[in-house]
Amino acid sequence: MSRKLIVGNWKMNGNLASNDALVRELLGGIGQPACDVAVCPPGIYVAQLQSLLAGSPIDLGVQNVSMNENGAYTGDVSAEMLKDYGVRYAIVGHSERRQHQAENDVHVALKAKRALAAGITPIVCVGETLRERESGMTEFIVKRQLSAVIHLNGHCISEIVVAYEPVWAIGTGQTATPEQAQSVHAVLRAQIKAATEKADRVRILYGGSMNAANAAELLSQPDIDGGLIGGASLKSADFLKIIAAARA
Ligand code: PGA
Repeated sequence: MSRKLIVGNWKMNGNLASNDALVRELLGGIGQPACDVAVCPPGIYVAQLQSLLAGSPIDLGVQNVSMNENGAYTGDVSAEMLKDYGVRYAIVGHSERRQHQAENDVHVALKAKRALAAGITPIVCVGETLRERESGMTEFIVKRQLSAVIHLNGHCISEIVVAYEPVWAIGTGQTATPEQAQSVHAVLRAQIKAATEKADRVRILYGGSMNAANAAELLSQPDIDGGLIGGASLKSADFLKIIAAARA
């Protein structure tokens, strides 16, 4: 298995001054990390972050990408445009976008395809709501969400990153137990294995209230290859602790 990957999802937080301060604190403490690291600021700040992160061990990601290539799509930003700014990763299908922007499995699969075509690694988010978990549908939901992406992206599927983010754990402080997370990760790994011989290359991140205190145990699970971190990625000390916990 390749190095673990720790990604900060800043969501709609920050400004020029606070981004600058956060990145300087991170770069001051990160040293030579034993894992890959990326941060995903709001899209408007990619140019700022590109210059702040240049030559550093932290890669640049974004929180969304257009499902269209170019043209009359007011408000959209294409994968090629993001590539111009050195963007390496694009989160696609985050549950907040599925919920508030009505993104569905087909949109998410198209976004992954556009990212891959531009040489950007999509971080494909899947996860069940509390109601779905309580009605025993977790496996069905995450497999359905991932299968749309596999279906459209075929042989490129070994190039993606997957993030399992139970919706009930996002921003709630209610983390999935390591066992709960591992069992879903194993399901996703098996699904990827059925689609590509290179399934072991695909990193499956856990996201949902991962923090400095619980990261090490989650990251020690056999199929948890990293984390997608929201709230705790906005505090440099916490994010650095999570990075330190992510050894191969
Ligand atoms: P959280 O968010 O760490 O604040 O729960 C994770 C995410 O939504 O990616």
